[in-house]
Order: sequence, then C-alpha cells, then structure tokens
Amino acid sequence: MSEFIAGLPKCELHLHIEGTLEPELKFELARRNGIALPYRSVEEMRAAYDFDSLPSFLKIYYEGMGVLRTEPDFYDLAMGYLRRAKEQNVRYAEIFFDPQAHTSRGVPFDVVIRGLRRALIDAESRLDVRAQLIMCFLRDFQAEYAMATLLESLPYKEWIVGIGLDSDEKGNPPAKFAAVYERARQEGYLLTMHCDVDQDDSVEHIRQAVQDIGVNRVDHGVNILEDPRLVDEILDKGIGLTCCPISNGYVTDSMKIEGIRKLLDLGVRVTINSDDPAYFMGYVAENLEVLNFPEEDLRQLQRNAFEITWLPRHVKDAYL
Ligand code: HPA
Ligand code: ZN
Repeated sequence: MSEFIAGLPKCELHLHIEGTLEPELKFELARRNGIALPYRSVEEMRAAYDFDSLPSFLKIYYEGMGVLRTEPDFYDLAMGYLRRAKEQNVRYAEIFFDPQAHTSRGVPFDVVIRGLRRALIDAESRLDVRAQLIMCFLRDFQAEYAMATLLESLPYKEWIVGIGLDSDEKGNPPAKFAAVYERARQEGYLLTMHCDVDQDDSVEHIRQAVQDIGVNRVDHGVNILEDPRLVDEILDKGIGLTCCPISNGYVTDSMKIEGIRKLLDLGVRVTINSDDPAYFMGYVAENLEVLNFPEEDLRQLQRNAFEITWLPRHVKDAYL
C-alpha cells in the first residue's frame, strides 16, 4: 500500500454492509447462533468465492448473510467495517443495507436497523468515523414488497439518508420501481440506484434512472460512456458515479479502469469504492491502489466523493 493512499482522507459511498461480512465473523456468528456452515475453515469458505458474474456473486452473498440474526450481530457487522474504515483513514461513509435480505428470512426490520444504527453512533464517538445509512431494495423482488419495506422504514426515517436499488438487474429495470422512488422522494429520502456494469440494458437503465426517476447519483454506471449525450446530462446536473474497480473485475471481464479514467478526464464526479470488500478481497484503499493513477487524480477522486456525499453543505465543506 502506498503511503500516499494510506494517508489520504477517504470517503466511501458504495459499500454494502452485508458485503463486509468477513469469513472470521461469519464463523463467529454461526457459532453464536447455533448455525452449521458447509465449510470447515476460513480457507475453505474463501475457496468457494469463485464468482464470475453478478448472479454467481449474489448467490454466495445471500447465503453468507444467513448467520445474521440478532441486533448484536448487525452491530458487530457494522462495527467491524467501521474499524477497518478507521484503519484506512476513511473519514465518512454512506453505507447500504438490504433489509429485505433479512426480513424475507424472518429477521425483523427493527432488529437490523437498530443494530446498524448503534454501531454508527459508537463509531462516531469512539473512532471519529462518521457514517449514514442508505436502504436498498432488492430489484429481483416485487415492487410491492419494496413499497411495503419503504413504509416500514418510515418510523426510522431520521436514521436513513436515502434509498438505493441492488441485486440482480437482469429484467429488473429502474422503471419497475418508479412508484417506490416517487414515494421515497416525497418522504424526503435522497435517491440512488445500481446500474451495474455490462448489463443487457445498462445504458437504457442509466437513462431511466437519470431522466425518468431523477436519481441524485448512480451506483456503478460506467456504461454511460456509450452515450455521450447522457454524459453531458450528468455533467450538467452534477450527478456522481460510485465506481468499484475490483468488484468490476469479479463480475465482468475487466476492472474498467480505462472507463473510470475517461470519466475522470471528462470531469464527471466519479468516485472509487469497495462494494463488497469481504467477498472481493479489497477495501477502498486497495481499490484506489489498483487504478495506478497519479496522486493528483486520487486527490480529485476523494474531492468528488466528499462533494457528492449526502451531508449538509457546511459539513461537506469541513471535509473538503
Ligand atoms: N450489484 C448488485 N447487487 C449487489 C451488489 C452489486 O454490486 N453488491 C451487493 N448487492
Ligand atoms: Zn453495489
């Protein structure tokens, strides 16, 4: 790890908390909850992480989170990430969580959010790492289930800064969730969504997200380069992209570093993030490292990230 990257004050905006579940904690939670895992060791578990597409990753990802059952489990998960964030000089993070990945297997919404929230409060006071939560809906479930989850979240609105959309994108376009996004906007949530790399309809999905839904930013979104007019539009609107090079390398044929370079050169507010670091074996510093960009570009990527955070202007300015 270069000293420059280690020391750079960082901001992370595309991080699934369930994707930070390291094998060691998975074993600990399985023991705590009396769950048998189909692996005998951390090495055996990691050896099963041989995904080469979004669906093959998602299968392992959802299986893995079955060990998360109680409020302390979610606390330990988030605290584990926030401690690593501290080690990498991440000063601020906006953290995705997937409530439906838990409610769909019987874990109540409030168990999930209370555990995460308590970790965020402790991390701010004990580690001086600040974070906010973004609630993601699973796009391969019905829109009605997303809407019900949105309504279930309303008592906890003060703890959630915005909404996102993740999981399997094939056949699940942004338009499917138009009503959910409209209601979320009315409730005061900020809006982002995944437009994963190299999907069947990547550019059309980005267009729907930007033009029809009116998102505040886009997660991944590198394929926007295929439509220069859309690039102009996000430049005009100041919409940022949360890119994840190491993740790209797992779910597609490349880390898409050339594309990220191009977006940066065009002046797009592109940012670098880790996505699911426990599965892709790289936190944000490692994602910055693989780019091999000059120091000034790495600084610009962090300026972009702090600029597009969902923090009040004066708080943002203190980081910049
Ligand atoms: N894409 C879609 N769904 C996900 C991802 C991702 O990068 N990570 C966790 N769930
Ligand atoms: Zn993601």
